[in-house]
Amino acid sequence: MQTDKDSTLIKDAAQGEVDVGIVLGSGLAEALGSAFQRVAIPYGDLPSLPFKSLPGHHGQAFVGLWQGKRVLALSGRAHLYQGFTAGEVTANVRLAKASGARALILTNAAGALNPVYDAGDLMLIADHLNLTGCNPLLDAEASPRFVDMSEAYSPRLRAVARRHASPEHRLREGVYVGLVGPSYETAAEARYLRTIGGDAVGMSTVLETIMARSLDMEVLGFSLITNVVGATETTHEEVMATARASAPGLAALIEKALVEI
Ligand code: HPA
Repeated sequence: MQTDKDSTLIKDAAQGEVDVGIVLGSGLAEALGSAFQRVAIPYGDLPSLPFKSLPGHHGQAFVGLWQGKRVLALSGRAHLYQGFTAGEVTANVRLAKASGARALILTNAAGALNPVYDAGDLMLIADHLNLTGCNPLLDAEASPRFVDMSEAYSPRLRAVARRHASPEHRLREGVYVGLVGPSYETAAEARYLRTIGGDAVGMSTVLETIMARSLDMEVLGFSLITNVVGATETTHEEVMATARASAPGLAALIEKALVEI
């Protein structure tokens, strides 16, 4: 199997089983500091990841030691809005698991639905609403399939993150809504998503969390709040620029939290 071959490559690079997998959202790869002693493996060398079919997309896996933990950090993820299936979107999680990861840190950029949130805030994901209409466990070969999701985002790891956050992180904690995208939300959709309990909305993460829970991995999720949905016009440029500006703070928090993961 491709995943087994790829995980062998990763375990060789890590000199052992990986402890923690990290999925790096927009801007985060550039924010990784020198404390993470790593080698980079291009996704082209990891055929279990679906990226080679995306021209111009340069994914990389960073493998190495960070805070005494063996870490696999994946820069570049497949999204439903790019035409990938739920199985392809979650190949990264299967690879992290096969490489040994017990815990998975998922990061993303998201728009605020909660009126007290602002661009530049960091949201710890307490729970999610999967409104993508997809589920990676629809695959008949996924096992187990009837997975408990009552504490999908680890209470233990959320407590670790809270403990290490400082006021500059402007840490919030809330419910992430996962949609297919790629269009941003209408004003009516934003009101609806808020009404049903969403605090932030984005186009990733929920399927990866489902896959991770089915593989019995502990999940820690963070959203960089890049814009306020429905307040003003949302542009991809604004989302990317705010994510880049907030990413170093999140990387620093992950670095501290890793000690206890
Ligand atoms: N909506 C959906 N996805 C997003 C947003 C948003 O406003 N901002 C960043 N990702």
